[in-house]
Amino acid sequence: MREERETPKPWKKTEVIGKPMPRVDAYERVSGSAIYPSDTSLPDMLYGAILRCPHAHAKVLDIDTREAEKMPGVRAVIKGDTHGASVEWPYLRGFKTKLFDSHCRHEGEEVAAVAAETPYQAWDAIKAIKVKYEILPFVVDERKALESGAPAIHAGGNRSGETQTYERGNVEKGFAEADVVLEETYRTESELHTPMELHGCVARWDGDRLTVWESTQGVYSVQARVAEVLGLPLANVRVIGPYMGGGFGSKLQAGKYTIIAALLSKKTARPVKVFLTREETFLCVGNRPPSNMTLKAGVKKDGTLTALEFSCIGTGGAYPAGGTSLVDWLVRDLYQCPNVRTKLTDVYINAGPSRPCRAPGHPQGAWALEQMIAALAEAIKMDPVEIRLKNIPLYSQAREGNPPYTSTGLKECLKEGAKAFGWKEALKKASEANARGGSLRRGVGMASGLWVAGGGGPPSTILIKLFSDGSVNLNMGASDIGTGTKTVMAMVVSEELGVPTKKIQIEHADTRTTQYATPSGGSKTVPTEAPAVRAAALHVKQQLLEMASRELKTEADQLNLINGEILSTIDPTKKIKISGLSELKRQGVILGVGYRGPNPDKKVVNPFAAQFCEVEVNIQTGEVKVLRFLAAQESGRVMNRLTYDNQVVGGITWGVGLALTEARILDAQQTGKMVNRNWHDYKIPTALDVPAEVISLPIEPEDTEANTTGAKGLGEPVTIPTAAAIANAVYHAIGIRITRTPINPLTLCPLFAARRKEG
Ligand code: MOS
Repeated sequence: MREERETPKPWKKTEVIGKPMPRVDAYERVSGSAIYPSDTSLPDMLYGAILRCPHAHAKVLDIDTREAEKMPGVRAVIKGDTHGASVEWPYLRGFKTKLFDSHCRHEGEEVAAVAAETPYQAWDAIKAIKVKYEILPFVVDERKALESGAPAIHAGGNRSGETQTYERGNVEKGFAEADVVLEETYRTESELHTPMELHGCVARWDGDRLTVWESTQGVYSVQARVAEVLGLPLANVRVIGPYMGGGFGSKLQAGKYTIIAALLSKKTARPVKVFLTREETFLCVGNRPPSNMTLKAGVKKDGTLTALEFSCIGTGGAYPAGGTSLVDWLVRDLYQCPNVRTKLTDVYINAGPSRPCRAPGHPQGAWALEQMIAALAEAIKMDPVEIRLKNIPLYSQAREGNPPYTSTGLKECLKEGAKAFGWKEALKKASEANARGGSLRRGVGMASGLWVAGGGGPPSTILIKLFSDGSVNLNMGASDIGTGTKTVMAMVVSEELGVPTKKIQIEHADTRTTQYATPSGGSKTVPTEAPAVRAAALHVKQQLLEMASRELKTEADQLNLINGEILSTIDPTKKIKISGLSELKRQGVILGVGYRGPNPDKKVVNPFAAQFCEVEVNIQTGEVKVLRFLAAQESGRVMNRLTYDNQVVGGITWGVGLALTEARILDAQQTGKMVNRNWHDYKIPTALDVPAEVISLPIEPEDTEANTTGAKGLGEPVTIPTAAAIANAVYHAIGIRITRTPINPLTLCPLFAARRKEG
């Protein structure tokens, strides 16, 4: 079945790829006819609600559900000892708890659940459940979790796994060789994913087969988790997620809510819908963990980095969840540096578990590293762009064997970005304006970054059916998480088969009907799936040309496929339309199969970036306004200029949030509870916070090695340098380095007041 095929050659000139093409599903999305999982409504459907522990840390002593069970419309109440509900929920490193664990280690931990005829009846019943808690002392500050006397969240204490260390070269020697050594501590606050569509699903059983309509980044990963937790064969679990309203890493997996919906549905023999409230999602379905970082760096007068030493204390919350994952990656690998040491300490606190969040670890690491590089540049009186150019990595230093990158556009990002932004002029103008005084201060700043991944495979399998009228079905298991994946895949088919995208229908994200795919995350959906789509399209094309060669009585390699017509390259009279092929009419369909091969051996596929921005800071009010932003992104080939620019705007918006507005606030003094668990008190950037001018500047080296499309992924790389670039611009504006997020009037006003006092 899986016959040998030639590896397709890299595209030279493209007709469709790279063009700004509106989304193939734009109409459905804007008209409201797209049915998201949260829109799903089935006949006879019940609504589930979850009772959650209101305390930061408590033991459940007793649950009395008698009153709730008698309430109108209530069809099921489940808790830890309900038949079938005593299942285990897995975290990282093989760690498990009960789905309803009597030891509640964070506010919002699941205690019981109800299914009722209406959501209101379900919530009324939740309120009627009486729980006796033993309230335990809590710790919600990761900097205090290892102090003696801190309440132990787990029997073994508050260390989450071993401290992770990395070392190369001789750091002490590196510092001794430096002309300047600086050391600084940095902190980034925890951010919440808070996607537009809430987390949840609809679950329905047909005998021993379960179907779940879930808002997810990966139907197959949800299938695997549900089957594992419920002890079902994979084949009995169908997961469907055709549209989804954002995940950013928080929907790479099933949630406890998925299992709860399935259990309630089983018990009632009716479909059950469980979608969380906004407040629940703030507490329970992930976050970008807070990072407390120290960075010491050495540099020579000529800008050569001699040593970097980094440590981070972080937390994935109350369970093993990767609280310090990848926070040190940029320190290890963004710049050429022979001597590097890093140390990551992950601890438990009484807060909801973290989940991967748009470029896990990287924006935090960039916040520290990219501010430090700016400070080093200032100390040796070198331009911040220059110092970075001086230390461009030639290969990945942090990986075994120092493999080279298939392409690295960091140098071009820096050079072309600075030029397009007008870096030198902007620096000068801002400094001149500030010399004149006044309460509005201008600053420009920049930062760079790379992203640790660039797609890969296998597995990815794609089926393409070409029908006799020239229309196409594309079958792909991967989810389009709002980034425009479907559109890019249709463009790949269109490029190879000459079929307009409106004649291409895409079936995707359904474990029963579409092919296996890994979840859409890591900015890998395009670089992983598009080569498989291309292979499937070429498989169709090969069969089509062979068919035409029989009909036209000529060799297949003398035929071309252009705009739905097959033409001889030698004899212009020999041509036939796809719809005119009698063999195809008889056969009905040509089936093409495409697989994703592995990335090149001993090479690394990573995207790079450099970003530049200009800010205005009001030194009376502490307001920070980002005036303009330019993102020079090297993500290999631009597949669709429109969806590309969308990712740039989205990534920068996220970075503006990290830098200026967002922070989870836990009440460390009295309750341990989250005090800003809604969109009013938790500030995501609005249109007023995002610069009116965001310029996307793609840097496109020809990468013929990354994969057969040359695309390397964009969603995450964009957001990595953004916050640090803003912090550097703020420093330029006010001369005070802000090392903690968010930079807002609460942070700035006391600093301005202190400076006025000092005169
Ligand atoms: Mo991403 S944080 O891998 O969805």
